[in-house]
Amino acid sequence: MGANVQKNKIDVKKIDRIIKGYDKSEESLLAILQDFQRAFQYVPEEGMKRLSRAMGVPESKIYAMGTFYKALSLKPRGKHTCKVCMGTACHLKGAGQILETIERELKVKRNSTTEDGLFTVESVNCVGACAMAPVVVVDESYAGHVRQSKVMDILDKYK
Ligand code: FES
Repeated sequence: MGANVQKNKIDVKKIDRIIKGYDKSEESLLAILQDFQRAFQYVPEEGMKRLSRAMGVPESKIYAMGTFYKALSLKPRGKHTCKVCMGTACHLKGAGQILETIERELKVKRNSTTEDGLFTVESVNCVGACAMAPVVVVDESYAGHVRQSKVMDILDKYK
């Protein structure tokens, strides 16, 4: 259901409805981009185009905002984010193999999103839980001492 959302075409009416809800002023830009992010789980190109036209602001400026703010993503993201810590402590405890297992099982490359839109898989630097190394973080939930053979059990709970 939700997992297939990003495979569908972007709902242009939804984009326009969001834009219409705000004043035509530059101060509204960020709030509108945040609403796009919430509605589509990323900021679609079509959204930036329509916003540019509606507000009379160059697309390049909107694009720059989209790349500047970390909470905004210009690429479709998965319903869940799976971060594999590749910091030193985790690396020494086999994080590389864990990441490879996830890539193989989900048929996805690191720092991209699965075909079904369920997971965005990222390799990240130390997430501050070295005592629990190796660590995998799914959305806000930390899993520590993750074993390569068990990592898919963790992700299966989100399917
Ligand atoms: S290196 Fe992974 S939590 Fe610190």
